[in-house]
Amino acid sequence: MTFRPRYTGLIDRYRDRLPVHDDTRIISLGEGNTPLIRLHNIPSLLGKEVDIYVKYEGLNPTGSFKDRGMTMAVTKAVEAGSRAIICASTGNTSAAAAAYAARAGITAFVLIPDGKIAQGKLAQAMMHGSTVLQIQGNFDAGMKLVKEVADHAPVTIVNSINPFRLQGQKTAAFEIIEELGRAPDYHCLPVGNAGNITAHWIGYCEYSSASGDHVTKACAFCEGHCRFAGGAIVGNRPKMVGYQAAGSAPFITGGMVDNPETVATAIRIGHPQSWDYAWQVQKESGGWFDACTDEEILAAQKLLAEKEGVFCEPASATSLAGAMRDVKNGKIPEGSSIVCTLTGHGLKDPDTAIKQSSGPVLKIAAELDEVKRAILDNLA
Ligand code: F0G
Repeated sequence: MTFRPRYTGLIDRYRDRLPVHDDTRIISLGEGNTPLIRLHNIPSLLGKEVDIYVKYEGLNPTGSFKDRGMTMAVTKAVEAGSRAIICASTGNTSAAAAAYAARAGITAFVLIPDGKIAQGKLAQAMMHGSTVLQIQGNFDAGMKLVKEVADHAPVTIVNSINPFRLQGQKTAAFEIIEELGRAPDYHCLPVGNAGNITAHWIGYCEYSSASGDHVTKACAFCEGHCRFAGGAIVGNRPKMVGYQAAGSAPFITGGMVDNPETVATAIRIGHPQSWDYAWQVQKESGGWFDACTDEEILAAQKLLAEKEGVFCEPASATSLAGAMRDVKNGKIPEGSSIVCTLTGHGLKDPDTAIKQSSGPVLKIAAELDEVKRAILDNLA
């Protein structure tokens, strides 16, 4: 019997490509290393020959991809001597910030839109002991306040404008390449602030850069924080495709949206912080942005749960909703390999899930006959 070394988180795993030193104290909860699941049933339902994989980021320690960025951001904040972090959030960033701050023994302040975050995320921020500030405003208003207050109080911002966040998040692209042996043809993501689509592009560029030029000259995204660690691992890069919720779709309307609305509260953002970066990613990769309606998003979330056994939160299903539409209409051609990032776990937002579930909850007497009848009536 051979034993595998214990997985100790993505900074340890990719330390030669991340801005850490040998003596940096790493704040980790074992994030990363998430499953890349090949869909079996949905491609045949679409009637198209495509390989669709979902990168199930909901299996990170706090249930979303934010842990990848937060391990880096909090590690660097602690290294710099910071005693407190702050973020604005639609819920997942606050959950991750609260957890990693708890792990590090520092204070977290989280600004969330009053009444507009999923219950699971609120529970996380509270349980991990962060100071929760519910504001009478949306995420964009919270983000503006966070940027202002950081000039007046000793706190480190851990939103994705913190460049270390993108450094951590780029590792998802590394993992995908290592599993597939190449980059996929298309990588589809839900887009809110557009940090994650930018981070993935950094990762894909880094693994396909032969000379190290990416890091030393050409990387327009990493603000000098990439580390070059050897030659090209693969020769290709994907087209990056970003899908937004129709009521919160500045990349599709072409300008900022002041009152964003969507059932996918995680991406209820009208003023994306990585606006310029994301446009550059779209142009460099040859991808595109498009919008999905709330109905399409919820239908994709349910289809994935019912047909593949994978439960993601509504915002996450936006990547699959858009990809399915673009496979059906031929914009993504047959023969393609597609990765859809499922950014957060379905359990984050049980209320929305229960509201749209069709599966009957049958109330019966605790008697054998009733159970038998229920089974026979409901066998597929
Ligand atoms: N999916 C989920 C589940 C998210 O929580 C977010 C962002 C995104 C997608 C979009 O990622 O902003 O990098 O384009 N959530 C942030 C938060 C804003 O506060 O948790 P992005």
